[in-house]
Amino acid sequence: MTREAMKHGAVNLSQGFPDFAAPEDIKRVAMQAIADDVNQYAITWGAKDFRDAIARKTKWYLGFEIDPESEITVTCRSTEGMISAMMATVDPGDEVIVFEPFYENYAPDAILSDATPRYVSLRAPDWSFDHNELRAAFNANTKAVIICNPNNPTGKVFTRDEMEFIASLCQEFDALCFTDEIYEHILFPRAGADIGHVSMAQIEGMRDRTVIVNSMSKTYSVTGWRVGYCIASPEITSAIRKVHDFLTVGAAAPLQTAGAYALSLPPAYYDQLQKEYEARRDLILPELEQAGFGTFRPDGAYYVMTDISGFGFKNDVEFTRHLIREIGVACVPGSSFYSDPAFGAQQVRFCFCKKDETLMLAAERLKKLTH
Ligand SMILES: Cc1ncc(COP(=O)(O)O)c(C=O)c1O
Repeated sequence: MTREAMKHGAVNLSQGFPDFAAPEDIKRVAMQAIADDVNQYAITWGAKDFRDAIARKTKWYLGFEIDPESEITVTCRSTEGMISAMMATVDPGDEVIVFEPFYENYAPDAILSDATPRYVSLRAPDWSFDHNELRAAFNANTKAVIICNPNNPTGKVFTRDEMEFIASLCQEFDALCFTDEIYEHILFPRAGADIGHVSMAQIEGMRDRTVIVNSMSKTYSVTGWRVGYCIASPEITSAIRKVHDFLTVGAAAPLQTAGAYALSLPPAYYDQLQKEYEARRDLILPELEQAGFGTFRPDGAYYVMTDISGFGFKNDVEFTRHLIREIGVACVPGSSFYSDPAFGAQQVRFCFCKKDETLMLAAERLKKLTH
């Protein structure tokens, strides 16, 4: 969709990457690291100063100790973290439960690990799941469940009750949980709702069953740096490190130095990030609604899923093509987030990790839509 947007000069609200500058100080540390000749391989499982910073930040944000020597693997972004974690733990014949709509990589990751994905629906408007449907998806072959929290593409933030229910099934069926937490700091608290980040590793009995997959991409607005990490028990970490060593050897050394700096930033950095994203969400949401979209208000991450049934298009792909070519705004067809394209045929996703002027330009163009 990004390539289509470029081809047709559309405002790109499809792929989730910021069009604003990354923080100056983080960039300066990266440039200084290159000037200081941090230009050769880092330790394959991650530079020590970066792993130490990850352990300190995890203690601050999630409240538990991790051993940087045996429980962290630095990867080439979270994309590699997820596939390394799966390849390290999942065997042929295993099943991996994926909530849908899903971030596109999870099912291919499971398939590449010779496992079978099993889908459980998150249902609009609040994207909750049916407890019985989830329970029915667990069986003796279930190796793991994947949770993306806060969630791409829906903006859902799993409640503690939901997490505890999933945790109880993982324990009952002796399954692991892979949690993609790359939007952990992009949350929009609201009155009457308990919107806070809960990591599966914080739930009782889940610390050793959970692989946290995270990355610098979203929290520090550096999606092109490709630096991420996995946090897991020493036993699982040892397996992840072996896969990682053969897949990529290691992540960019000078960018890990910058990562050590970034992950040591004070809480004020994250408060500001959250406020800025909340303002962007509050800017785009009413514009989408006025343009005729049904919107599902996100509680976290930087996407809005929308309902396009008011526009009368046959499906999401046809609508997206029209939006890019005739209206000049790019989004992602909803069907790309479902195992069966029919489920997303009347949905599209917009991202709002963009400058205000980009969002306003998109809003201006969306006024041309008729419904
Ligand atoms: C849920 C989710 N996980 C992983 C990724 C990829 O992140 P990374 O840049 O760390 O590979 C994205 C990117 O959009 C995402 O939305």
